[in-house]
Amino acid sequence: MILDSTMRLDDVLAGGASSPVRAGQRVGGAPFVCARADGPYAYDVEGRRYVDYVMAYGPLLFGHTPPFLRGLDALAARGVVYGSTTPDELELAARIRGHVPSMEKLRFTTTGSEAVQSAVRVARAFTGRDAVLKFSGNYHGHFDLALQDAGASAETPDATHSGIPRAVVADLAVARYNDLGDVDRDLARIGGRLAAILVEPICGNMGLVETEPGFLQGLRERADRCGALLIFDEVITWLRLGLAGAQGEIGVVPDLTAVGKIMGGGFPIAAFGGRADVMAVLAPDGPCFTGGTHAGMPFAVALALRVLDYLETTPSLYREMDRRARILADGIRATLRDLGLDYAVVQRDSIVDFKFRPGPPTRSYDDQARDDQRAYAAFYHAMRARGVLLPPSHNEVMFVSTAHGDADVALTVDAVDASLRALRAEGIV
Ligand SMILES: Cc1ncc(COP(=O)(O)O)c(C=O)c1O
Repeated sequence: MILDSTMRLDDVLAGGASSPVRAGQRVGGAPFVCARADGPYAYDVEGRRYVDYVMAYGPLLFGHTPPFLRGLDALAARGVVYGSTTPDELELAARIRGHVPSMEKLRFTTTGSEAVQSAVRVARAFTGRDAVLKFSGNYHGHFDLALQDAGASAETPDATHSGIPRAVVADLAVARYNDLGDVDRDLARIGGRLAAILVEPICGNMGLVETEPGFLQGLRERADRCGALLIFDEVITWLRLGLAGAQGEIGVVPDLTAVGKIMGGGFPIAAFGGRADVMAVLAPDGPCFTGGTHAGMPFAVALALRVLDYLETTPSLYREMDRRARILADGIRATLRDLGLDYAVVQRDSIVDFKFRPGPPTRSYDDQARDDQRAYAAFYHAMRARGVLLPPSHNEVMFVSTAHGDADVALTVDAVDASLRALRAEGIV
């Protein structure tokens, strides 16, 4: 193995990681290096086992080794990328539309970033306008416009040297999540030039933050009033919340939607889609180009079909995950109560989160700024020492998968209890 005790991760890998959060700087200490994984477990290079709640930041709804990942040799033997449209691709598109009817027409991409970026370009092409309104603490991927005031691990200490041209963010407004008053202040300035409002309908990138009743409806009305489009970024929420996504649960219909993460069963595939008249701007029918060498590649499409097969035939999976996530959330609440810590524990389906901050759950990124990040870092390491892997940033969430069993959750609840008591003994909380 190339990694030995004398080698630093950043000897050859820029920043020590291919995606910054993995370098673990937010929590300090030695970054977690994963040697292998199965089911709900990740193993470090020394072979130690951890119950994993990072779950690759969302895609692993079925854990690391889903049952449908069998027979991949046969799949590869059909060829993995053709550079042409395939029957499976049409089937996948039709089945996605069956579950998310607002995606009347759709197109596949490789990553969630591309899916959201493409949706924004389509909105601009359709409206003939440039301005975009988004929300601080939401994360939409790594393209230029999306990174302004983004959540997840995208914060930069020096925006002027971040490589993002000032012109790109000139026609961008960033509003406070869950705050229609703030949206209105921005719209007074840019409403006449607005192409799109871009939002995570439930946010998983500043911790777990639910939208308050009326917020998404308010965005829908405002987009309509301005002649702009509403884009839902459901890259995390589609299939995490169910086959109809957040829009199916909340009942607000966007013009465009981006999906990704879970749909590939661990392989990279994403999609964007929406109103047929809007998607008609896309080349070759219209003037707006999006495309990619691996877009809709048959190997990933075949896995996405397996993901849908599995979910459509086993709806009880969602109930089971919700039950375990509830046990986990209740277990954390019990210890916090016992220690007199007034931290809000939030759970939505298989997503669980709490912050080291007294008071109500996070409503916007302003709340999140008041988190005790030092306490989270200490908690992260205390949990890791007890065989539980949490995300190395307070902006992320815990993802429960279908692979997490009752025993894993019980071990986690015990580890939370012991870790928080250890932090209390050290005077950290
Ligand atoms: C809500 C949301 N949108 C978009 C993206 C970008 O997806 P990808 O990392 O596949 O480019 C992410 C990634 O974390 C995300 O959480």
